[in-house]
Amino acid sequence: MAKNTTRFVCKDCGYEAPKWLGRCPSCGLWNTLREESLPVRVSDRSGPKLPALSLADIPEAPSYRFPSGIGELDRVLGGGMVPGSLILLGGDPGIGKSTLLLQVADRIASPRKKVLYLSGEESAGQIRLRASRLGIGNPAIYFLAEQNIERLDEYLQDIDPGLVIIDSIQTVYVASISSIPGSITQLRESTAKIMELAKTTERVFVLVGHVTKEGALAGPKVLEHMVDVVIYFEGEKNFSFRLLRGIKNRFGATDEIGLLEMSGMGLREVLDPSQIFLSLRDSGVSGSAVAASFEGSRPLLIEVQALVAPTGLGYARRMASGIDQNRLALIIAVLEKRRGFNLGAFDVYLKVTGGVFLRDPAADLGIAAAILSSYRDKPLAADMVFAGELGLAGDIRPVPFLEARLKEAVKMGFRRAMVPPGAANALNKELGLEIIEIKNLDDFIDKVTEG
Ligand code: TYD
Ligand code: MG
Repeated sequence: MAKNTTRFVCKDCGYEAPKWLGRCPSCGLWNTLREESLPVRVSDRSGPKLPALSLADIPEAPSYRFPSGIGELDRVLGGGMVPGSLILLGGDPGIGKSTLLLQVADRIASPRKKVLYLSGEESAGQIRLRASRLGIGNPAIYFLAEQNIERLDEYLQDIDPGLVIIDSIQTVYVASISSIPGSITQLRESTAKIMELAKTTERVFVLVGHVTKEGALAGPKVLEHMVDVVIYFEGEKNFSFRLLRGIKNRFGATDEIGLLEMSGMGLREVLDPSQIFLSLRDSGVSGSAVAASFEGSRPLLIEVQALVAPTGLGYARRMASGIDQNRLALIIAVLEKRRGFNLGAFDVYLKVTGGVFLRDPAADLGIAAAILSSYRDKPLAADMVFAGELGLAGDIRPVPFLEARLKEAVKMGFRRAMVPPGAANALNKELGLEIIEIKNLDDFIDKVTEG
C-alpha cells in the first residue's frame, strides 16, 4: 500500500513540487503553491489485458455530430457536438454560461435525447427561476444537485441522457480524495472521471469552468489539455455583447468565434455584429479609430479608443482593456522610436469597445491611429477604417483577408481605408472605397495627423 503523502500544487498553473516554494518555478507567480494530499495509487493489474491493435484493424469511429441548436455555438464547435466528447466552457462569473447551457439543453432535450443538468452552484429553485424567465419548461431536462462525481454513473444509468452538463467543475468532487472541491487535485480527478464516462459512452459532457481574475481558468492548464474542446465565453458584464471563442478543438478548427447578445430573454444570435459595435460610436471625438479586424472566419469592425494624457506622477501609465497589455506597450514603443513622440511623459489608456478581446494583429494600425489621434487631440475622419500590422522596425505588414475586411467596411458605410503598402493591387477595384496605401510608419503618422 502506498503512503498517503502530500505535495504542493500551484493554484495557477498546476505545477507540482514536493516541498513548499515561495515562487512557482513554472509560471513565476509568488505565493501560489498550496498543499494538497496526493491521491493514493496502488499498483493494480486486475483489469483485463487489452490487445494492441494494428492501425488497419481499428474501425473508423462514426463521424456524426448533433447540433446544439444555437448556430453560433455550433460554428465554434465545428458543426455540432461529437458524441463521446468532453467540452469545457470557461468564462467570468455572471457572463452567461449557465444561461447558454440551459438554452442548449432546451434545444436538444427530447424523450429520445434527455439532458442531465448537474448543478453544484445553484439550487433547483434558482434554475427553475432562470428556466421560467427563458420560457423553458422542457420535461426532458433533468436537474440534479449531486456534487459527488463518483455517483454520476448511477444517474447516467437511470436517466440515460445524451447530454450531461456539469455546472461547474469547481463545485464537484471525487469523494475518495480528501482535497476540497475546486482544488487542483479535485479538478483533475473529477475531470479524469468524467472523461472516462464520456469515452465509454456516446454521451456528450459539457463542463463549466470559472475564470479567475487573471483571466485563466481556475486550475487552468490542467483542464485544458484533458478535454476535447475548450471554449471561452467573453464579454463585459455591463454590455450585452458576448463572444464564444474556440481555444482548442480536437474535432475542428480552433480559431472560430461565435457572437451572441444577452437579452431579457436569454442569449440571442447576432447576425450583424459590426452594426452593434459601431452603434455606440461617437465619431467626432479624438482618440477613436475603427479597426477592420477579422475574428475566426468573418470580418468584424471594432472601435478602439485611446486616451493620451500628460503624466501627473513620476512614471507614465499604460492601461489596456480588450487588448494585451504587452501589445499596447509594443505599439507605443514603435511609435516613440520612429518619430520621437514623447509618449514617455504621457499616460496611455486604451479600450476596445464592446467588451471584446482583440487578438487580430491587423488591428495594430487602428490602435496606433487611436493613440496618435488622442495625442494630437484631433478626431480622425469618421469614414476611415484601418487594417495593418505594425512590425518592430516600424514597417507596416500585409494582413490576410483584406478584401473581406474592406467589404465589411463598405457595408457599414465607410468610404476610406488605410492599408499596408502594395495591398491595393490585390484588391477588387470595384470595392467602392478610397484605398490609402501606407508606405511606412512615418507616412502613416503624416497621413493620420494631417487634415
Ligand atoms: P448566468 O448564466 O447565471 O452566468 P454564469 O453562469 O456565467 O455565472 O448569467 C447571469 C447574468 O445574465 C445575470 O446577470 C442575469 C443575466 N441574464 C439576462 O440578462 N437575461 C436572461 O434572460 C438571463 C437568464 C440572465
Ligand atoms: Mg452559472
